[in-house]
Parts: sequence; C-alpha cells; structure tokens
Amino acid sequence: MTTYTFPQGFLWGAAASGIQTEGTKNKIHDSIWDTWHRDNPERFFKEIGPAKVCETYDRYQEDVQLMKQVGFNSFRTSIQWSRLIKDLETGEPCQDAVAFYTAYFEEMIANGITPMVNLYHFDMPAVLQEQYGGFESKHVIGLFVKYAETAFKSFGHLIKHWITFNEPIVPVEGGYLYDFHYPCKKDGKLAVQVGFNITVAHAKAVLAFREMACEGHIGTVLNLTPSYTRDDREEDKQAAHYADLLFNRSFLDPMVLNYYPEELCQILKHHDLMPEVAAEEMAAIESAKVDFLGVNYYVPRRVKAREAEYDLSYFTPEYYFENYINPTGRFNPYRDNNEILPTAIYDIAQNIKDNYGNLPWFLAEIGIAMDEASEGEAQEDGVIDDSFRTSLMKEHLVQLHRAIDDGANCFGVHQWTFIDNWSWTNSFKRRYGFFRLDLETGQRIPKRHGQWFKSLAQSNSFTAD
Ligand code: FCB
Repeated sequence: MTTYTFPQGFLWGAAASGIQTEGTKNKIHDSIWDTWHRDNPERFFKEIGPAKVCETYDRYQEDVQLMKQVGFNSFRTSIQWSRLIKDLETGEPCQDAVAFYTAYFEEMIANGITPMVNLYHFDMPAVLQEQYGGFESKHVIGLFVKYAETAFKSFGHLIKHWITFNEPIVPVEGGYLYDFHYPCKKDGKLAVQVGFNITVAHAKAVLAFREMACEGHIGTVLNLTPSYTRDDREEDKQAAHYADLLFNRSFLDPMVLNYYPEELCQILKHHDLMPEVAAEEMAAIESAKVDFLGVNYYVPRRVKAREAEYDLSYFTPEYYFENYINPTGRFNPYRDNNEILPTAIYDIAQNIKDNYGNLPWFLAEIGIAMDEASEGEAQEDGVIDDSFRTSLMKEHLVQLHRAIDDGANCFGVHQWTFIDNWSWTNSFKRRYGFFRLDLETGQRIPKRHGQWFKSLAQSNSFTAD
C-alpha cells in the first residue's frame, strides 16, 4: 500500500451550479433552460426541467451541514444571472437574490467551507437570447460585464475565488454546432462569433474585477482533454493537432496566454469563419490576466484522420478529424462509450506546466457517472454503496499526485457533484453526487463514497495499492 499525501491547504470539495440546484422559486427572469423546457419538454430526459432540482434556495442550511458531513473545505457553485439581476440592461440587482446568495455563502463560510463562485454556467437569461441572440450580440457582452460588476459589488466581501465561465466552449458546441443546447442552431460562423464574444466577455469581466480593486482571485474553468490517436501515424497526429487547436486552444490560449494561435486564425480565414473583432476587444483579451485555471475532466478525446468525406453543409471541427473509439480502451459500464483514462490527468497537468507557464490550477470537475439502478438502493446502514466511484477516483488521484510530484501547480480537487443534480437535457439520467436526490421526496441519501472522501479531505491523503 502506498500513501499519497497532497500539498498543505489543498482544496477538497465539489462543484455544482445555480441553475442545476436552486430551483426557480422567486426568480424574476427565465433562463433559456426554463423557456426551452417549457416549449420542448420532449428534448429532456423524462421531460424533467430545471424547476425540479435540489431546492437549494430553501434547503441551503441543511445542505451545508451535509457538505461538512463529507469533509468539504471548499465548494463551487454559480450565481444565476437570471436570478441576481432585476434590470438586465442596467445590472441593478434583485434584493431577494442578494439576500439569498449572501445567506448561502455566509453559511458556507461559517462552517469552514470556502465558496468559489462562477458567473456563467450555460444559463443565458431567455429575454437576452430572444431580443439580442445572447452571446451572438456585442450588446450582451456589455450586459454580462454589468452583471459581473453587480456580483463583485454584492458579494466581494465574501467571495475570494471568482470564475467567469464554466466550459465556455459548451454553449458554442451545444447551441451553435451540435444541437444540444438552445438556440439549437447549426452555423459554424455564428459558433465562432459566439465563442469569440464569450472570450471578450470573460476578458472584460476580469478587467472590471481589477479596476474595482476587488480582493481575491479570478479565473476560468475549461474542459480540457488531450486528443489521443489510434497510433503514431502522421495523419492521425495531424488530426489530433487540429482537434487540440479547435477544442482546447481556442479558449485556453486567449484566456491564459492572452493571444490566439496564429494557425487557428488561418483555419478560420480559410473557411471564411472569421468573427467581427474590434481593436478594443483584442486589447481586452491581451490584458486580462487570470490568476488561476479550473480544469474539468471526464473522458479523453480520441481522434483519427478523416476517412469518410465530410458531409455536413456547415463547418464543425470534425472537418479535420473523425472521432474514434479505442478498441482496447476501458469503459465505464454505467455510461456508454465513456472511456476511463486516468493518465489523461497527468497529461493535462504536463501541458499546463510546459505550455501555460505552470499557472496555478485545480481540478474543477471530475465526475464518475452511474445511473440510479446501478448504484442500487440504500443498504442496512442507510448508505448507498457506490464504491465503484471510490476505486476510480483513487486511480485518477494517483495520476494527479504523480503530476504534482513532477511539479504541477495544482491546488485542489472538486468532484462533480455534491447532491445528484439536474443535468441539462440528460436531466437526472446519470447520477454523480455524494448524496442521492430522491426525486419524489427531495430526500438526500448518503453514498459510501462520501465516507471515503471525508477521510481523504481530513487527512489530506489516501492509501492505494
Ligand atoms: C459538465 C458540466 C456540468 C455537468 C457535468 C455532468 O460538462 O459542467 O454542468 O452537467 O458535465
């Protein structure tokens, strides 16, 4: 048995988001998820939408005690733009929302849990999508910055770790390329414009944070995975290079290095996809330095060189590669095609160290999906046995530990998620939590993995073979 000990002060906790946990009570505006679910419930697993969630709005005090029960010293959630801001044009806040978030964050702090707060987790206010096209519009960048300023002003005394966006590429992929987020468009050029505008919104929020001389740190959370190939053949390596440029470096480079890779610009020009760019926007991107990076990791990306002809009428990154399923890979038996590759964590860490100045970073989401049936019912002691999750988590943490030994500047791990929560169109299909949410009663049922996590967090170490 080996004992793996983590650096002093390491953050242990979980990640969630406002829209996936709070419920809609006392919310003034709808987000695109509320309206999309209302209009097209059939797009959601079992037709469950964002109104039926963990009811954090009413139950946060009880839930903070559960956070303590599994040993968290930190927790990430997000503020909902559509809850906090009453007047979306001026950024004037809704007092009920200020009171709710203040009480929630204070409750965490009083219980020794450091809140980390994200501003945008896929949840555009619906009226801004309808009126302006959401992040298709430059005007909405300005409105996002006003919202960010209101958040900094309202909660800056409590929150010392801010995040601008969670997985900013996902609303681009889902909403503008692959049809799994509203507005369900398929338009490569618009996708690039939205991605660029989000990057500008991020940069301007970081600059506002600096101008307001807020205390604390600000960063962003990206879903990063290296692109692995079939083997060493040149054309596959080239395919991986393009996938990396389009999926990772398209956000990682402008947000961390403060410039776009020249080759990415060439690709966009070649396909006539260049977005509208103002000089002051580029200046904002160039000067908005982040303090840290969050990395979400679930599954590795595998690619091979294109074999079939590209047959879509609009551009997607797959123009340059095909996705590939590793025939010798290990897969999560509870989630189709989810390859298990803990060494990817090590590779991500090395990439940040070698190519991104070894910026301080944390594992902002790592999630092990199981469905309710595979987790089973609570055992005699009232606990659900999800030890599968613990064994996989250990394998990933061994790799993270190896990376830290080799110099990675990693300061924490947040598992997705705390209480099973609503997950977009998948709704509650897959469970990730330390606690099961009983959808009928709202009861939180503990899982075995939480007991292990508590000893991990308290001792800052674990043992494994
Ligand atoms: C991530 C999202 C998060 C959650 C997990 C399962 O991509 O950030 O909101 O839905 O997937």
